[in-house]
Amino acid sequence: MSEALLAQQSWPTVSDRPDALPARMQAVGFDRFGDPDVLTLREVDTPDLGPGQVAIRVAAVSVGRLLDVSARAGTHPYAHIALPHVPGAEHAGTVAAVAADVTTLRVGDHVAVLPVLTCGECAACAAGATEACATARILGLHVPGAYAEYTVVPAGNAFVVPEGVGPEQAAALALAGPVAQNQFDEAGLAPGEWVLVHGASSALGSLTAALALHRGARVIATSRSQDKRVRLEALGAAAVLDPLAPDFADRVREATGGAGVDLVVDDLGHPDIWNATMEVLAVRGRVVTSGAFLGGRVELDLLRLYSRSQRIVGVRSGNARSARRLWAAVAEGFRPLLDRSYPVTAAAEAHRHLEDSANTGRVVLTTADEDWAGDRAATPNTGEAHS
Ligand SMILES: NC(=O)c1ccc[n+]([C@@H]2O[C@H](COP(=O)([O-])OP(=O)(O)OC[C@H]3O[C@@H](n4cnc5c(N)ncnc54)[C@H](OP(=O)(O)O)[C@@H]3O)[C@@H](O)[C@H]2O)c1
Ligand SMILES: [Zn+2]
Repeated sequence: MSEALLAQQSWPTVSDRPDALPARMQAVGFDRFGDPDVLTLREVDTPDLGPGQVAIRVAAVSVGRLLDVSARAGTHPYAHIALPHVPGAEHAGTVAAVAADVTTLRVGDHVAVLPVLTCGECAACAAGATEACATARILGLHVPGAYAEYTVVPAGNAFVVPEGVGPEQAAALALAGPVAQNQFDEAGLAPGEWVLVHGASSALGSLTAALALHRGARVIATSRSQDKRVRLEALGAAAVLDPLAPDFADRVREATGGAGVDLVVDDLGHPDIWNATMEVLAVRGRVVTSGAFLGGRVELDLLRLYSRSQRIVGVRSGNARSARRLWAAVAEGFRPLLDRSYPVTAAAEAHRHLEDSANTGRVVLTTADEDWAGDRAATPNTGEAHS
């Protein structure tokens, strides 16, 4: 990508009619898998608006380790990605157009998009557990995504963002928020319980730790990095520990009065961290996981598991129910931890930052879209902006 493009703070062209979709739009995508420089600016067709759908003018989009970085590198473990591709799953923006049959949203609404597209008809969808839909697809992975001026999504996937929440925060919450809430709902979190969050420096992990605190839990957060542990002190956890330190189990027992932790969130799948986890899991404790990018093959002592009445819970993603609960918490004041933002035209730089594991919290791309610009200044814990 040229220096001139990297310096741009917004798309080169801006639609002056928010209620009308242009036939073509600007996007950042890739034609082949490779290093971050394969991400280039291009013009693509604007998606068509179908029944039950809304078009969203994108204001901010998260950069995810698996959904964005691995997909671009060609190392995504399960998805087939058709080339050329426009990434961008978790995003927020302003409703630019609504289909005639949509009554729940209006042009001008600020929304966050849960990017899990489901069939709405299978047994899992009928039960409200849409994350388990056999044909679930993810916007920005299986279909072109939100590193673009516009997206088109089912109206049920767009959630109105409370006043005072900026687009970067809304993007950081859009998928990770419902995932974390679903983890707590599925694993049964109660106020006052001890929650251990591994990878608490990650975008999902930091949000999970903050949400556990918001839900009245007592939290122990982990990171391997001393610098990140210092930054994580701001969350207000009871302890921030190195999960691979020899005294980790002792420190957890000490913090919890010897009982261990009631709930562990492990979205990493690191075999050594798993062993440390099982050592400190309380009687009737639960381990919940929604990610395993560090391998995911772990040892399990079934005798220990059943004799202590423990459970392991897998949660594929978020759903509309967990999203509604999440956005209610946001209305009460819950906020995610943001690391830094880049203009979307500097997406390659943002991918490099994530590949270096340099983030503490969510990395976001912004379009500097005027529709939602007013709230950006009101965003209280936004990290640095980079260009
Ligand atoms: N199911 C879903 O819908 C969903 C949605 C979002 C994310 N996820 C999953 O959540 C996980 C985190 O994703 P993210 O985008 O939030 O990650 P991220 O912001 O890129 O952070 C990566 C984390 O991994 C840790 N880490 C990296 N290398 C490590 C190693 N060798 N050993 C131990 N820890 C290591 C880092 O911890 P340090 O502080 O120690 O560096 C950091 O906390 C991934 O597995 C992802 O697939 C799932
Ligand atoms: Zn379904």
